Amino acid sequence: MKVDSTTPAGCHRIRVGDCELAVECAGRGPAVLFVHGFPLNRSLWRHQLDHLAGFRSIAPDLRGMGASGVPLSPSEYSMARYAQDLVEVLDALGEHRVTMCGLSMGGYIAFEFLHRYRDRVRALVLMDTRAEAETEQGRQTRDRAIERVTRQGSAPFVEEMVPKLLGPSTAARRQGVVEAVRRMMLQTSPNGIVGALAAMRDRADYSTVLSSLAGVPTLVVAGEEDAITPPSAARLMASRIPEARLVIVPEAGHLAPMEQPETVTRLLQEFLRERETAGRQRA
Ligand code: MLT
Repeated sequence: MKVDSTTPAGCHRIRVGDCELAVECAGRGPAVLFVHGFPLNRSLWRHQLDHLAGFRSIAPDLRGMGASGVPLSPSEYSMARYAQDLVEVLDALGEHRVTMCGLSMGGYIAFEFLHRYRDRVRALVLMDTRAEAETEQGRQTRDRAIERVTRQGSAPFVEEMVPKLLGPSTAARRQGVVEAVRRMMLQTSPNGIVGALAAMRDRADYSTVLSSLAGVPTLVVAGEEDAITPPSAARLMASRIPEARLVIVPEAGHLAPMEQPETVTRLLQEFLRERETAGRQRA
């Protein structure tokens, strides 16, 4: 057991390899592992952590982000390393099988996790994400971003990224969400951002994982106004997964769990309860 300490709020510090992760746990019941996107942290899932009932929600800050340790070298970041961190977190918390819920980069990590540790995944929720590898053009954009963040620090990169993450409805009507996202991103250190950019640039093509998901009930969620992974990408991905259900969330961009928190928590609650009921009926 590598759980080093626990704060009263259910936040553990868990050592994984060369790094210590901050991991928040809430509730009791079958485990749900929440994996945030880039360059964010577990507070992306605040509403879900506070309101999901009947399940044990586990939300780590990925290495380099939030309150977790920040390895300095980009070589200490990769999809394989993020997935390995998650399996070590589950081992430390005594959880064998989980429902995995990943948003965007968290979805890439979920695919890598499935590739390596398929028997640890009971069900899957894919939010605002895609399965394909980076395109050549995308790789060049990541390289330019790495060069820029290394030279200028995080702030200019963050300011440019905030409007791309949120839908026009949020930008027009939910200034509190815009500010919370900006604050979250500004907290991320340049080393964590550069490491994640390199890991996303070099990620594998997970398209072949999609057709292998027979037997893994999957919920695909996409924001109607998501400009980074648009609903058309979510539709295509869902059509390639044998047991997928697709929901498009109105008035949400790339960060549906923050932009429409009540809707996303309700969708998750329904999906998880249905899976538990189906599991009990089969038993
Ligand atoms: C994320 O939200 O995790 C990122 O936008 C993913 C990406 O840049 O591919």
